[in-house]
Amino acid sequence: MAIAPNQKYKDAYVDLSKGQISREIFVNEEIYQRELEQVFARSWLFIGHESQIEKPGDYFISGMGEESVIMCRDRESKVHVFLNSCRHRGMKVCRYDEGNTPVFTCPYHGWSYATDGKLAGIPYFKDAYHGEIDRTQWGLVEVAQLRIYKGTVWATWDQTAPPFLEYLGDFKMFLDLSLDSWDGSEGGSEVIGGVQKWMIPCNWKFPAENFSGDSYHNISHRSVDMVGIGPSGTGRRDMNERNQAKRLHILFPERGHHTGAYLLPKGDSTPPAYQDSPVVSEYFAHCERERRRVRGEWSRLVGSPGEIFPNTALHPRQPRTIAVWHPRGVHQTEVWRWYLVDRAAPDEVKNFLREYYIRYSGPGGLTEQDDMENWNYAHSASRGTIARRYPYSYEQGLGYERADFEVDGLKFPGLVTDLSEVKSSEDNLRNLYRRWADFMDADSWDVLANWRNGSGA
Ligand code: FES
Ligand code: FE
Repeated sequence: MAIAPNQKYKDAYVDLSKGQISREIFVNEEIYQRELEQVFARSWLFIGHESQIEKPGDYFISGMGEESVIMCRDRESKVHVFLNSCRHRGMKVCRYDEGNTPVFTCPYHGWSYATDGKLAGIPYFKDAYHGEIDRTQWGLVEVAQLRIYKGTVWATWDQTAPPFLEYLGDFKMFLDLSLDSWDGSEGGSEVIGGVQKWMIPCNWKFPAENFSGDSYHNISHRSVDMVGIGPSGTGRRDMNERNQAKRLHILFPERGHHTGAYLLPKGDSTPPAYQDSPVVSEYFAHCERERRRVRGEWSRLVGSPGEIFPNTALHPRQPRTIAVWHPRGVHQTEVWRWYLVDRAAPDEVKNFLREYYIRYSGPGGLTEQDDMENWNYAHSASRGTIARRYPYSYEQGLGYERADFEVDGLKFPGLVTDLSEVKSSEDNLRNLYRRWADFMDADSWDVLANWRNGSGA
């Protein structure tokens, strides 16, 4: 079912005045193809972490939308992101997941590229090409913009997109909750272990909306809460902290980013003892004291799942991960999950967290398995001819988001819902689709960067 030429996605599929969204946007092939152009080719996307490519020649193969890209560090130590496709006939110039190389040699006919993307070698250059092909024109295709922020690498194919920090806007403070060290010092995160990658049979927006802060699906995780997979052995996280904190949703309508957050009680807060490990317990107690000292009242703000539009999910702590929902056709998603720790943490702490992370997240993680079961069955049960006729309901909390939210003298940017009062809201989910429709409808970044003129997209 194609959209009529004069219709907007905002009206045809995403009706936020009623809080209803068409199932078509999850299952329609034509809409999916348009997403690749309108959303993925124009947004800032998460590529990886600098700690994955520390030395010159190090590379990590990542993805942007459906396409494979090479994140690498050249001989001068500069980081690049290139399309992983040979300029001669399109072969993947790198078929490994990661490694170190002085040069990427295409396995098809042997063109070779330096780690700065320049075409370095062409077989039979003098004989077959008569020395005439202009090698400077045939380097690897490089992203239009790249930004390294506190160790994380971001890129976009769109030269006209706003710079990364402008794209983030006031959401920056929430990305910082994932990237700063637990003691409150700036940056200092590193990737631990490998990146977990796996396929799930659902549209990429199912996990994207869930990690926007679907505060309504707690029932799905009842079993892990009962088993107590959390770091202190109760619930799936540190439940005491969670239960005492004020729970918030914060969203940014002009940017399409949103997150959950916890505001810890005033005064000292002591983390629980971590499974009788004095080293781990002391590390977090120390960090907690330090964070309070460095950040004052704002140290009470700790992260909860959230998302940078369109497909980068942040899980700032417990466990601390970054996920990307790579589109792989309208009915399939490839999930990549990175696991972060404080670089300066003792090995015992890193190992403790690694074990907790993988029993929570990833294909073998008990909590993530709960989620995947929902997304996968929801997708398959929404594909049918009859099912597609009926919209989903996103009415929860519609119209109750608050501007100028302030608590204990802490003024929050964006629109906020206090979940401690209302238990749950679908505000963040609506925010994802509001921005998605903006991207699907807008012809250019002049329209999408609506904060520059205050007019709204
Ligand atoms: Fe790469 Fe021909 S496709 S050298
Ligand atoms: Fe969940």
